[in-house]
Amino acid sequence: MSHDALDAAGPFSAAIAEMFWVFVGVSLAVYLIVIGFLVFVLRRRAHSDASSPDGERRAVRAIAAAVAVTSVVLLGLGLSDFFTARVLTADPQDPLRVRVTAHQWWWEIEYLDEQPSRHVRTANELHIPVGRPVQLEMTADDVIHSFWVPSLQGKKDLLPGYTTTLNLVAARPGTYEGNCAEFCGYQHAHMRIDVVAHEPGAFRSWFETQLAAAAEPTTPEALRGRDVFMATTCVMCHAIQGTDANAVTGPDLTHVASRRRIAAGTLENQPANLSAWIRNPQNFKPGSRMPATRLDGEDLAALTTYLSSLK
Ligand code: CUA
Repeated sequence: MSHDALDAAGPFSAAIAEMFWVFVGVSLAVYLIVIGFLVFVLRRRAHSDASSPDGERRAVRAIAAAVAVTSVVLLGLGLSDFFTARVLTADPQDPLRVRVTAHQWWWEIEYLDEQPSRHVRTANELHIPVGRPVQLEMTADDVIHSFWVPSLQGKKDLLPGYTTTLNLVAARPGTYEGNCAEFCGYQHAHMRIDVVAHEPGAFRSWFETQLAAAAEPTTPEALRGRDVFMATTCVMCHAIQGTDANAVTGPDLTHVASRRRIAAGTLENQPANLSAWIRNPQNFKPGSRMPATRLDGEDLAALTTYLSSLK
């Protein structure tokens, strides 16, 4: 797990980290030179007379030289910034295209493909293949959010009614954690995003699994759980591919059990948490759009069993 802008896991974050160290190095050098000159001047002041014509000429020359050096340094830093930005925003070759839509307070993720039948819709966990560029086409549903996975890239805002793009490349497999980085309301802090980078083969098998319809219930308990799902308010907001549930207001639950956490990183994805979350999301994420679901104990247990079977 990595969540560190200076622990770069890809070329873009590496470019940002490099620029950071250039700025730190130059600033440190300037600071030391200025302090060095200050000490030098204070020690000499005792036995020199700056008000003489000779001393004044020297002072003017020194100031002119300092202004020239400062201009060159600032120009150099400006160029470093410019070229880093060019690296970060260059159009990638044959990218994997993914649409990311930010909602209060979760991330909707859709893998775009020429064939609509190969679109995959998921939430809060972005899986990518190592080495291949990924281009995120990002927008927001309600207010401004910001996508930030420090180990992979800088921040980028998601704006309602407008598409921004962000390129990602992961150089090594791993899970890279991120957060929404723009205050977007009450649960801004509970809007995490995980980027999971796989070797290409492992990514393909993940993708094929996600493409498949939801697993059929194999036990009476899970079967009852699916009936509960279809008969309550769940079905008004969520989709489960392969069933009649196809609403897109909330996260797609076709493979919800394959995800590490629920509620945009708020809780570990385990049956007890899932059950407590369904009973009353407001306990964990006050202001969340998901209302409490009133179910008796057996229905809730069956529903939890069913959802936990959706790997
Ligand atoms: Cu979304 Cu902060």
